[in-house]
Amino acid sequence: MDARIAVLGGDGIGPEVTAESVKVLDAIGRRFGHDFTYVTGPVGGAAIDATGSALPADTMNIVLGSDAVLFGAVGGPKWDDPLAKVRPEDGILALRKGLGLFANLRPAKVYEQLIDASPLRPELLKDVDFIIVRELTGGLYFGKPKRRWENSRGRRAVDTLAYSEKEIERVVRMAFELAKDRKKRVHSLDKMNVMESSRLWREIATEVGIEYPDVELIHMLADNAAMQIITNPSSFDVIVAENTFGDILSDEAAVIGGSLGMLPSASLSSLPPKNGRRRRGGKPALYEPIHGSAPDIAGKSLANPMASILSAAMLLRLSLGLSAEAEIVENAVDSVLAEGYRTHDIATGGERPLTTGQVGDMIAGLVAG
Ligand code: IPM
Ligand code: MG
Repeated sequence: MDARIAVLGGDGIGPEVTAESVKVLDAIGRRFGHDFTYVTGPVGGAAIDATGSALPADTMNIVLGSDAVLFGAVGGPKWDDPLAKVRPEDGILALRKGLGLFANLRPAKVYEQLIDASPLRPELLKDVDFIIVRELTGGLYFGKPKRRWENSRGRRAVDTLAYSEKEIERVVRMAFELAKDRKKRVHSLDKMNVMESSRLWREIATEVGIEYPDVELIHMLADNAAMQIITNPSSFDVIVAENTFGDILSDEAAVIGGSLGMLPSASLSSLPPKNGRRRRGGKPALYEPIHGSAPDIAGKSLANPMASILSAAMLLRLSLGLSAEAEIVENAVDSVLAEGYRTHDIATGGERPLTTGQVGDMIAGLVAG
């Protein structure tokens, strides 16, 4: 198969980790006779420096001509002025919105081998395997009005949490579709005790749930969920939540497994075809690690490339229909961990941490067969 993959490294450790994913994809390509070509363009802070825009039109055109996007991370102290007119984060937000990527799938998996690195007691980590479906193109991130102003009484600012019925319905449906093939349980999060948008969310979730009689629907207040994710993480299967709740809770969920550096994500505009075929035409989906640009360790070869490599595995499975290849990549990550190799974020002592490139080489080597 041939595929065009847009690789947008972005800022900080972003380009370091996507480079390792490309190594792994190349190894898959060689082994299975797939012809992957990579196209790239600036995004985030690097793009602001070069063009003044966090997502230049040229980069968007490259993305639109690709089959899938492998994204690194954006942001850094250099661009953190709260009064700045344009921010690196605008780049990823514009991509999500522009590509219609309304569902962000964030698996929270606990690796047996990393239990020591988790802040939780081992007995809490048994059977933890859930996925957060975060709404990605609505809510507080995009609602209007969104602005800041000043009047005689001082400075004010507003963000708006708005959702339409259709926006809620499609993301909740995605959660149910995923749950059907998993443990058949959906937790739908809201703050219906406070917010009008949450009351609509709960109503729509209930309506969609009626179409899935085999899947259990549990409504849960988002603050309670924040507590349950820590105290009872194995009780979850699929969690669906609006944009901001999903953002916050997915960072929380990610550390259960020991490190943000391990977890991939996929941002989709539709569920992949059931027959395992590749999605053709339309706008590409985007794959990115959950972690950010980690400016403090950028350029030091300390970053853990596994979240990006696992994102590339999701890309193989969900955008290209290459499930067997995706599994080979995931198994290679498992093996490297099982053999005790660690980057510094997941090293618990004793081990000599490997560099970003060494881990990438090792995984690519295993994938090559
Ligand atoms: C994430 C990040 C982004 C978000 C930032 C970088 C805009 O935190 O992907 O979770 O808030 O969505
Ligand atoms: Mg986040």
